Amino acid sequence: MSFNKDFKWGAATASYQVEGGSYEDGKGISVWDMFCKEPDRVYNGDTGDFACDSYHRIKEDVKIIKDLGLKAYRFSLSWTRILPNGIGEINESGLKFYDMFIDELIKENIEPYITLFHWDYPYELYKKGHWLNDESSKWFEEYTEVVVKRYGDRVKNWMTINEPQVFIGLGYSLGTHAPGLKLSKFDIIRMTHNVLLSHGKAVRKIREYVENANIGFAFVCDTGIPNTTSEEDKNAAREYTFNRQSKVNDTKRYDFCFDNELWFDPVMLGKYPNWVYKNYSDNLPESLDDDLKIISENVDFMGLNIYHGKVVKSSEEGFEFIKFNAGHAVTGLDWPITSEALYWGPYFMYERYKKTIMITENGLSNKDWISIDGKVHDEGRIDFLRSYLGRLSDAIDDEIDVTGYFQWSLLDNFEWAEGYKDRFGLVYVDFETGERTKKESYYWYRDLIAGKKEL
Ligand code: BGC
Repeated sequence: MSFNKDFKWGAATASYQVEGGSYEDGKGISVWDMFCKEPDRVYNGDTGDFACDSYHRIKEDVKIIKDLGLKAYRFSLSWTRILPNGIGEINESGLKFYDMFIDELIKENIEPYITLFHWDYPYELYKKGHWLNDESSKWFEEYTEVVVKRYGDRVKNWMTINEPQVFIGLGYSLGTHAPGLKLSKFDIIRMTHNVLLSHGKAVRKIREYVENANIGFAFVCDTGIPNTTSEEDKNAAREYTFNRQSKVNDTKRYDFCFDNELWFDPVMLGKYPNWVYKNYSDNLPESLDDDLKIISENVDFMGLNIYHGKVVKSSEEGFEFIKFNAGHAVTGLDWPITSEALYWGPYFMYERYKKTIMITENGLSNKDWISIDGKVHDEGRIDFLRSYLGRLSDAIDDEIDVTGYFQWSLLDNFEWAEGYKDRFGLVYVDFETGERTKKESYYWYRDLIAGKKEL
């Protein structure tokens, strides 16, 4: 197998999904706190108020991470724990909480990988017009500065923004995630620009304060999987991965939020795809050229979140989807199991952008429970990991530069609009008491990392 000794084996979580303590010690309110209060927004009326109670379990969680043998742990900061209003007043207790967590990780030789923003946007900034306000990138820059000033001496690894495709696409276009809006595609483009600019400004701030920083982002990589290895099908998969707009030549198309080139091209190549200039030039700012310089500030790695892909074959229009056979394996959330995505996602991304890759998320949701023998027999997750990691190892063999893998997730946690319906963790969490039970997959992953298990 191709994972060398420096490969960063990790796991990931995000603040709102695990911390709980939503109203404690001066934390400000986020759009997710508000969204969960609305009826019928989240499955079963679930909220992140308690979640995994990680806010009160620093030592316990770090021990779980250590015993797993992780070299790296990816987690996000709650913006409003640090700046309750998003900007301005700083909450020292919030900063202290992460001080303690970071120090505990470092003490155990686990490298912190911090995500600055994983969707829990300050409600006070939402009221000021959120990402549609052209000041929003300055707000993000201010928050970044507070954070890197404080932790930059100890934390080298940073990710700016998690999955803008999802928080914009579901939060502001489809309205199924916080804050639950359905804005026009014109607004969406302007927000996209402001989010990308926030990313670029954050990269610059991190470089300013952190010596030898290792900086990336964590974007969804929605990948095409060629139906066969023929060049035609490979081209079709490439088209799906980077050129969906040309097939669906319809300016009314609302779901461009997931088109890779909309997010990756500005950051990695310093330009928008042609369809943006053609259809949305009125929605881009006058400062576009200068902004693109900031947006494309050099990063050290591309963080890809990959759970599944679309199988496609070539057709006259560029590509055509292949329907899955009846009974094709799906996850608890009904996502198709397509381990090939962990080969072709990195393959196409590396081919286009030639940049080191980390898999910042990948994992399986399941309906796990504690069996009568007291164990959690999540064989499906072990099988998922074996097949997906097998394909990732093939990609590395084919000289795709992948340096790390973060399993989503360390703990079962609050799965956004799906509440606690499904479980993604290597560790089972009782959401009433916070009690943790290691699943079989936890032990399997531990042994793999330790080199005691083969794929
Ligand atoms: C997000 C996580 C989420 C996971 C599973 C990603 O979309 O970054 O917050 O829990 O995938 O849905």
